[in-house]
Amino acid sequence: MKLAAATLPAPGPHPWPILGNLDIIGRFDNPFKGFGTLANHYGDIYSLTFGHTRCLVVNNLDLIREVLNKNGKFFGGRPDFLRYHKLFGGDRNNSLALCDWSQLQQKRRNLARRHCSPRESSSYFSKMSGIGCAEIDILMEELKKVIIPGQPLDLKPVLNATCANMFSQYMCSMRFDYDDMEFQQIVQFFDEIFWEINQGHPLDFLPWLLPFYKQHTNRIAYWSTTIRKFILERVLNQRELNIDTEEPDNDFTDALLKSLIENKNMCRNTIIFMLEDFIGGHSAVGNLIMLALAYIAKDPVIGRNIQCEADVISHNGKRNITLEDMEEMPYTMATIFEVLRYSSSPIVPHVATEDSVISGFGVTKGTIVFINNYVLNMSQESWRNPNHFCPERKSDANNQLTDELPKFRLRKNLPQFLPFSIGKRTCIGQNLVRGFGFILLSNILLRYNISSPDISTIKINPASLALPAKCFPLVLTERI
Ligand code: HEM
Repeated sequence: MKLAAATLPAPGPHPWPILGNLDIIGRFDNPFKGFGTLANHYGDIYSLTFGHTRCLVVNNLDLIREVLNKNGKFFGGRPDFLRYHKLFGGDRNNSLALCDWSQLQQKRRNLARRHCSPRESSSYFSKMSGIGCAEIDILMEELKKVIIPGQPLDLKPVLNATCANMFSQYMCSMRFDYDDMEFQQIVQFFDEIFWEINQGHPLDFLPWLLPFYKQHTNRIAYWSTTIRKFILERVLNQRELNIDTEEPDNDFTDALLKSLIENKNMCRNTIIFMLEDFIGGHSAVGNLIMLALAYIAKDPVIGRNIQCEADVISHNGKRNITLEDMEEMPYTMATIFEVLRYSSSPIVPHVATEDSVISGFGVTKGTIVFINNYVLNMSQESWRNPNHFCPERKSDANNQLTDELPKFRLRKNLPQFLPFSIGKRTCIGQNLVRGFGFILLSNILLRYNISSPDISTIKINPASLALPAKCFPLVLTERI
């Protein structure tokens, strides 16, 4: 609904000059927890001012739906943070996730969805399964080279390289050797960027601090230009030589290159950034699986339950687990979903592109809207014992949580569970996350037991799927 003349803004604390309410949110170890606590005082919808920027925080499912679904067309913008520009060649509109809504974005989403949202039982799905399993074989060989029995291993770089190869094969029909130094470097830079994007930064709301953070912004720009150079030289330039416009699209890169030739308002820059964005999605999957392995190291029963499923399906390791096995391994999938709930990856903030109204309160154009899905994922009403990591959570036919074991229904269509968001800017990569995530987790557990040399080294931030590039070591012990 558009803003009526006399609509009042949502309540909220009085802002200080310069800082606004940054002092309040700075008191919490994680802003989303802070948003929940402030809701106890101001209600489920309230205003904050960060620096000079007006913000709105929505803290319950109905309000979230009102912003993302019912009034989604008024909230399709993204914050104009300086870091976002630095990451995308000086213009955040080059990015699929950080751009404002536009016709070009609709076009990019349609093109990407066709190729990067493989549906179950489609040929894309079988392709994802084949690529995933072939890369698992290579990962297993790689692990044999780097594992010293009983010794802790920095698994994240290897796991991320595996994910990067799954993504680059799926999207570009290309893979890279694990000891290719340029490849290793871009995998690391993608991971640094994933961490960076998932952190708040003083520059976001106090951009006049830029002179003090020059080194940081130069580093961000260096990561992204290095990645772009790699994609151009090692992927696009190679593929362009062999493009055949008469043949059906072989992969996402084919579709991008052809859209350039057919000149559908696409320019070379657009397709380079699209490919970068989508290959970069692998870091999200790598971090997700690292987190799953961390929870397994903390609670070995979870690992044993996954192994029970994996052993039956694979006839005790006689073959790899494929995507066709997903339905038969509900506990494994439930573990992935529980990581998504427990880590409660924040939804990228939205921005009001016009004056509008939410729940009777006026929202002016340019207001940043924080969608607090952490409050949904940690709700006592929706989840029994929400602070406990517990894949057994499930729903019965009426979406009520029950305690039946062992073969429970997967948590499909739980309205309060929105890890990939809803509405016009919903995540395009969710099927890749489920598919490659499942192949990785199930096959690693099929071959290895996971433990930690010291579980106190496993430090996980609440409300974040991102782990720092250098995180915790794990011990992988081959199963007999
Ligand atoms: C665990 C992994 C992931 C999670 C939890 C996740 C979650 C999300 C969320 C919450 C959003 C914001 C939606 C909104 O603003 O309403 C988003 C956007 C997006 N995601 Fe993901 N995502 C994941 C992995 C991926 C992957 C692997 C890809 C691509 C290969 C991807 C591509 C995108 C894109 C392009 C957008 C922006 C869509 C737009 O703004 O129009 N995501 N994702």
